[in-house]
Amino acid sequence: MVGWQGVDSPASVWWTPAKINLFLAIPARRADGYHELETLMTAVTIFDTLVFTPSAEAAITVSCEWSAGIVAQRGSGRNAGAQSGPWEPLPPQEQNLVWRALRLLQQRSGISGGARVRLIKRIPSAAGLGGASSDAATALLAANAAWKLGWSDEQLALLAEEVGSDVPFFLHARPAICRGRGEQMERVAVPGGLPLVLVRPPEGLSTAEVYRLCGPGSESTNAEGVVSAMQRGDRSKLERALLNRLQPPAEQLSRGVSELLATLRRQVGSGHMSGSGSSCFVVGQSARHARRLAARLRAEGWQAACHVTTTDRRERN
Ligand code: C5P
Repeated sequence: MVGWQGVDSPASVWWTPAKINLFLAIPARRADGYHELETLMTAVTIFDTLVFTPSAEAAITVSCEWSAGIVAQRGSGRNAGAQSGPWEPLPPQEQNLVWRALRLLQQRSGISGGARVRLIKRIPSAAGLGGASSDAATALLAANAAWKLGWSDEQLALLAEEVGSDVPFFLHARPAICRGRGEQMERVAVPGGLPLVLVRPPEGLSTAEVYRLCGPGSESTNAEGVVSAMQRGDRSKLERALLNRLQPPAEQLSRGVSELLATLRRQVGSGHMSGSGSSCFVVGQSARHARRLAARLRAEGWQAACHVTTTDRRERN
């Protein structure tokens, strides 16, 4: 706990990680409009910061800003002159998943107090990196502690599921094969530290639109194939096992995604999309290789190219 927002309103500071999907198959379309998934998710080392300050009044306010370093990069490279780009304008607070998650927790727990939340964003939005879901899960953890609710993991997970399919994953952010809508998690033991280059093209993608264009299909590989390749440290097997069934519809919707994937294939011979896009990634041969490739891509105008690694748990709280 740190008290830098006032002595009588102690604030807690939380780090909220992004995720990538190393495998994403869609075995079936469901009657409720969602798609049945089999996906392997792992957290990666790019974080938003969430500052949670409980208040005696019932109001919940969420203020949201891009971190200072990111603001300096906006409007350059491939985004020159654009209002959007990898760091688009942020939505009003009622559309923010943090606000929705906290309202739900406040109503269900019957607590009289509220909160002020400040979000400092670094995870690109509409990117398939789960930034908003991660922020929402972290807000639930912060509120459970600050409001002294004592809710169990299971209770929080059920509420998180109502907020969004990916939100339960971020309560622990440990590598997991997720099925159902994404909310049924089977933890898997895979080592962290896999070096990656992650790039968000200038335009983002709407999750719902990408899913709408995606038909179900059966695959010859499965998420366990990725898990076993990671456990053995077998990079060539890993490369063959990576899959994302949402990639073809995303390429259909976004020229940015197809251009980025073509660039990555030209430079390193491979490229994969995360979640419903628009971010794509490549597995680096080493951290040094990944850092150099990220720098080269930034120099070519792909401003949101960064070196990250996978983690095997929520790294920082
Ligand atoms: O659950 P969430 O609100 O994150 O999902 C956003 C949208 O993505 C849904 O409205 C749905 O259109 C699509 N989706 C889906 N199947 C899933 C997860 C999401 O069709 N398993």
